[in-house]
Amino acid sequence: MKIGLLHSLIRKDEKLLLEAFKNASCELVMIDDRKLIMDFKSAPQVDVLLERSINHSRALHALRLFESIGIKCINKHDVATVCGDKILTTAALAEAGVAQPGSRVAFTEDSAIDAIEEMGYPVVLKPAVGSWGRLLSKVNDRDAAESILEHKTILGSYHHSVFYIQEYIEKAGRDIRTFVIGDECIAGIYRSSKHWITNTARGAEASNCEITPEIAEISLAAANAVGGGVVAVDLLESDRGLLVNEVNYTMEFKNSIDTTGVDIPARIVDHAIQEASR
Ligand SMILES: Nc1ncnc2c1ncn2[C@@H]1O[C@H](COP(=O)(O)OP(=O)(O)O)[C@@H](O)[C@H]1O
Ligand SMILES: [Mg+2]
Repeated sequence: MKIGLLHSLIRKDEKLLLEAFKNASCELVMIDDRKLIMDFKSAPQVDVLLERSINHSRALHALRLFESIGIKCINKHDVATVCGDKILTTAALAEAGVAQPGSRVAFTEDSAIDAIEEMGYPVVLKPAVGSWGRLLSKVNDRDAAESILEHKTILGSYHHSVFYIQEYIEKAGRDIRTFVIGDECIAGIYRSSKHWITNTARGAEASNCEITPEIAEISLAAANAVGGGVVAVDLLESDRGLLVNEVNYTMEFKNSIDTTGVDIPARIVDHAIQEASR
């Protein structure tokens, strides 16, 4: 059995996956997206492709091309498409009836201001495509809203011309990141910070989060809503219960193995092998 690992730079997460593959009963085929040339007819012959690119557009297109010649991918192209775009994620969660912060999408500065005024302050503005807590704005008043919308319109790339606005959730200094593999929520961490942005990439502290039935249920519902696979779910604790903030498709786990005591890379490898033998 051959498992392809689509990668760019080998980061700590990929090193951990390579270690896990050493103990697995499969042949690992390394596929470097910086050298890959695809011709729409053929691709490296593998039973499953595990996508670990660091670049969203490379990942999306490679997944589509691998799938087009019949190779099963983790994650599926459709899953990456939905997870890679917060507006598409919100739509998928809404369709599936999964609890999430109130959100609006507007296409002009004027309509965005109207939406924000109607929602009330504070709100969070974030790019539909992005990660690591970058370019998120907590907007506390109309002056700030006008200024950020103008900056996005004039200085932003075309991604920033669609305004994604979220209700700000008071979340008591932390959020929850859970890890879903197939039909199981295998682990979770709290990410605590004095800052309202609690990505570990932005300095938040990770600690173990016990997976309660409630956390497992909403994490699996979120994963299923976007099409399932190997995903990490961001949850916010609010006074109306847990809310799904976003779902990540090339999940990073290096800070969560010791914290949770769960061998996340080994679980990903097991899952890839299971999928390959299906
Ligand atoms: N609506 C919100 N209310 C409160 N905190 C938020 C909200 N949206 C994002 N955050 C905080 O910012 C972090 C990053 O936001 P997220 O939407 O997950 O973007 P990214 O893709 O950059 O991780 C979250 O983990 C959370 O701590
Ligand atoms: Mg996030």
